[in-house]
Amino acid sequence: MPYENPYDVMAPIYDRMNAEIDYVRWADFVEAQFARFAKEKPQLVLDLAAGTGSMTIELARRGYDMTAVDRSEDMLSAAADRIADAGLTGVLLLLQDMTEFELYGTVDAVVCCLDSVNHLTRRGDLARCFSLVHNYLNPDGLFLFDVNTPHKFENVYGENDFILDDEEGGAVCCWRNLYDKETGICDFDLTVFTERADGTYTRTDTVQRERCFSEDQLRRALTKAGFEVLGFFADYDFTPAEETDDRWYIAARCKKEI
Ligand SMILES: C[S@@+](CC[C@H](N)C(=O)[O-])C[C@H]1O[C@@H](n2cnc3c(N)ncnc32)[C@H](O)[C@@H]1O
Repeated sequence: MPYENPYDVMAPIYDRMNAEIDYVRWADFVEAQFARFAKEKPQLVLDLAAGTGSMTIELARRGYDMTAVDRSEDMLSAAADRIADAGLTGVLLLLQDMTEFELYGTVDAVVCCLDSVNHLTRRGDLARCFSLVHNYLNPDGLFLFDVNTPHKFENVYGENDFILDDEEGGAVCCWRNLYDKETGICDFDLTVFTERADGTYTRTDTVQRERCFSEDQLRRALTKAGFEVLGFFADYDFTPAEETDDRWYIAARCKKEI
């Protein structure tokens, strides 16, 4: 029986499975975008769909006042443990959905990392999320996020199978993709094997879903929500995005009257 929230299944192994992602470099790029695009250096930052808090922690270490939102209790609980282990205090964790979150006040920047925006799969989700981000950003505040590209959905995910082995041992994650170009929906049928103390394995099955967005869809949704699009980038160095990239990093500025 598949789990209702696939990230509750993934939480115990999520960081080990994503160990190759360099959040220090990524946070350097976030700060480079702050330096290039922000009118004043941001202080209050929201990490939307923060997961286990990798970017939250990296930015909190650099002195930003962080709020993290995620709808997976187990991912946020892992984030809480990691934040405590890092000796960081004052990070606000909110168990909420990014299509209907409520904050205590406005923020100077919103980051949303590792294709979390592709998790907005229901009709209207993207518009609801962008509108809330706009609502909670201060005027000229920055919204920085990334997406898996149409090229990646078509040519990398497609109908391919993957096996991800935790290098330290103890967990294996296998998944089969089914991408429907007509609907833009990609289903990931995931099976996770985690080792028990006695050396046997527990098997858990779940289904994760992402939606593919074209550059045009993203630009229109951002503009409609009240953002000025600042750029689509291919890497952590402002390289302009191309159709054949696997990931785009997008920067937008919140336009609103004070
Ligand atoms: C690929 S993970 C990325 C996590 C984190 N940003 C990172 O860089 O590791 C996607 C995250 O989005 C969260 N998520 C998916 N849909 C969501 C929603 N509607 N509202 C809030 N969080 C959501 C999941 O729980 C998961 O933690």
